[in-house]
Parts: sequence; structure tokens; C-alpha cells
Amino acid sequence: MKNSELAKRRDAAIPRGLASAHAIYAKKARNAEIWDVEGKRYVDFAGGIAVVNTGHMHPKVTAAVQNQLEGFSHPCVQVTPYESYIALAERLNKVTPGNFPKKTVFFTTGAEAIENAVKIARVHTGRPGVIAFSGAFHGRTHMTLGLTGKVVPYKVGFGPFPSEVFHVPFPDAFHGVTVEQSLKALDTLFKADVDPARVATIVIEPVQGEGGFNVTPFDFLRSLREICTKHGILLIVDEIQTGFARTGKMFAIEHAGVAPDLMCMAKSLAGGYPLSAVTGRAEIMDAAAPGGLGGTYGGNPVACSAGLAVLDVIEEEKLIDRSNEIGRIITDRLNSLAQRNSLDCIGDVRGLGGMVAVELVKTRKTNEPAPDLTKAVVAKAAEKGLIILSCGVYGNVIRFLVPLTASNDIVKEGMDKLEAALLEALAA
Ligand SMILES: Cc1ncc(COP(=O)(O)O)c(C=O)c1O
Repeated sequence: MKNSELAKRRDAAIPRGLASAHAIYAKKARNAEIWDVEGKRYVDFAGGIAVVNTGHMHPKVTAAVQNQLEGFSHPCVQVTPYESYIALAERLNKVTPGNFPKKTVFFTTGAEAIENAVKIARVHTGRPGVIAFSGAFHGRTHMTLGLTGKVVPYKVGFGPFPSEVFHVPFPDAFHGVTVEQSLKALDTLFKADVDPARVATIVIEPVQGEGGFNVTPFDFLRSLREICTKHGILLIVDEIQTGFARTGKMFAIEHAGVAPDLMCMAKSLAGGYPLSAVTGRAEIMDAAAPGGLGGTYGGNPVACSAGLAVLDVIEEEKLIDRSNEIGRIITDRLNSLAQRNSLDCIGDVRGLGGMVAVELVKTRKTNEPAPDLTKAVVAKAAEKGLIILSCGVYGNVIRFLVPLTASNDIVKEGMDKLEAALLEALAA
């Protein structure tokens, strides 16, 4: 089978709205490597978009899935529940930040987790308002698109979006917004647009994912916590991309020492199986009446079994430490590239733990975004056998989501390919 033949069939059968970063059709994937249908090998620095922190097909995760399939695949928790759902909820209640009683409910996608966290916040507070940030990405359903703060390509043509959603500029020093300006804008919002007493929740990613791997300043997160507590607003933290050891802590919000009221998780929670979760203060989680939460597939037993194995693997293989080590290797390499005069296109190297990104610019004098160069680097890297993804409001950020189970040799091999791709793209 050829990639080109599959690309033709895909174009005929699947709408163009579903975009793929690469016309590379996967045949097999193990840990941090992928082989395509033509037998070409790739180092994988995308990890299924932050889904396989424990690597593709981790043997323990696969064994847990196989074991579950000896019993059943879907009795549906809303009909005849099962132990793995409860066990995983118990584990998440323990491992998430906040020294108070918690409860957890499972869904299938990240967007669904955010949708439901907003529902829970509204039913608990009896308030309608929801505040999110520019550059945020929370999903592709209507409420989550409403919260998303990046128009192209996510929001174009899909409105109107739900009402009572407000945006505040994200504190991103590299793009000229300070913490003080962002807090001032929130204050202005409370004076000009919505009474804080009508706001149910503020939703934030501790590191913006699709928005460009922008680390939310820790003092900003602490200020939000205080503002929320002062006004009776619930703080929802979106750990969908940042969770499960990606940032060198189990959850990125731990870097700021903040306990959210509700936390949304998905992606690496189940190492490749569709599962998402909302965990939060028990009394808040119990606000919705019986039947108010759920969904046919939410908390599927195969995915819950995978999730339990993922948590074991993170602990046993010390993936939090590995996240910091992998992040250091990538960051050191990018910073040393940035020292070269010929690589004035490296505008910024940033991240937390193993969640690292490089922002490409026309020149550091202006920091004008270089999205065409970014596209060229991603394409050249693929030619050289490296899968990477771009992101950022301006499409000029290359992000690294290396499986945390990857060896140092694989990380270095990938970085060699990236360097070669960058030099070739610049020379073209
Ligand atoms: C931070 C964040 N929130 C929410 C989502 C939406 O998750 P899903 O695509 O599973 O609906 C994503 C997906 O990329 C994400 O990165």
C-alpha cells in the first residue's frame, strides 16, 4: 500500500475539514517510533498529540486492555457499572492536587470533559458566566469553541457560540501582555461586561497547548485562585494536554501550588484509548442531579483499565523525572542552536519539563512570526523521518511532545533530524 493511494482515497471519502499534519499513513507504532504503510521509520515527537506520554503500545497498557477484554467491553456504566471505573476515580481523587474530598466522573473526549465541568460549575453556583483566555484551546464542540481563544481554523464560520462567555487577554510576555495587564483586563471585564457575582467559572490551561506552549505565569495562577475564592467563582484547570507527567510534575498546576475546584483531564490519561475525566471538590461534583451527567461511552471499561495501567507506568518508570530529563535535552539543544548567528530565526525556547516549544521568527530584532518557515521545517523533518507538530496563534511554534518513555538516544536522534530540517528549510 502507498501513502499516495491512501491520500487519494482519503480526499474522496473524508471531508477536508478533518486536517492531518502529514500525509503519512501509519502501519505500526511502538514507544517513540512509527512505521508507515511503505515501511519507512519515523521518530515520533508528536505522541498522538500528547496522548502517549507512556509511549505507543506500552506493553503494560496493552496487557491491561487485553485482560479487560477477557471480561467485557461495554456493559455501560449507566446500566451495570464495574470496578475499574471506581478504581480509576479513586486513583485520580488521590493523585490530583487539593487536600480535600474529591469525586471524579469520566467522559470520552477532552471537549466533553470541559463541557461537563462548565455544566457542573453552573449547576453548583447557579450562575451563567464563563471566562476564558485569548489563545486558549478547549475543544471543538460548541461550548468549548466558545471558550477557545483562537479563531483560525477552529471558529471560522461555526458561530453563533453560547452566550455568557467572556475572554481576557492571556498573560504572554513574549507577545507583549504582562500579568498586570491581564489582571487589569479581568478587573475591567468585571466592571464593564459582567458582574463577578454572575460568573460561574474561570477556565484556564496551565500551559496553553494549541496556543503555542505558553506557560501561564505561576503568580497569575495564584492571583486567579484568590480572585475566584473572593468572588465565589470556581477555578477550572484544563490539564488535557499538560497532565500525566508531561510538564515534569504529575499535573502542571502543581508548579504554581494552586488547587483548582475542578480539573479536566484526557489525552495521556489512558495512553491511547478514548477517556476523559473531571475531578473536583466532592460537594461541587455532587451538585448535578442523578442523570444530569454521563454519556453512553464515558468511562468505557477498556479505557479505564488502560488508565489504571498508565498511572502504574508513570510511577514505576519514574516518568516525572524522565519528563524533566527529556525536556532538558531538548531545551539545551534548542538553546545552543539559538546561539548561532545563522539561526536568528529562533525567537524563543520555552516550556515546562518535557513540554517544550521553539518559536520561529523572521528575525529576533522584530520577533515577527515565521509561519512559512515553520511549515517548511515540519515538512523537511518528516522527509528525514521525524514527526513533529506546529502550534501557536500565529502558526509559528514547533512543539515537542516526545513520549516520556523514549530513550535519550531516540530524543537525540530526533533533535539531529530537527536541526538538519531547520538548516535545510532556511537554505531553501
Ligand atoms: C488543552 C486542551 N483542551 C481540550 C482539548 C480538546 O480535547 P479533545 O480533542 O479530546 O476533545 C485539547 C485537545 O487538543 C487540548 O489540548
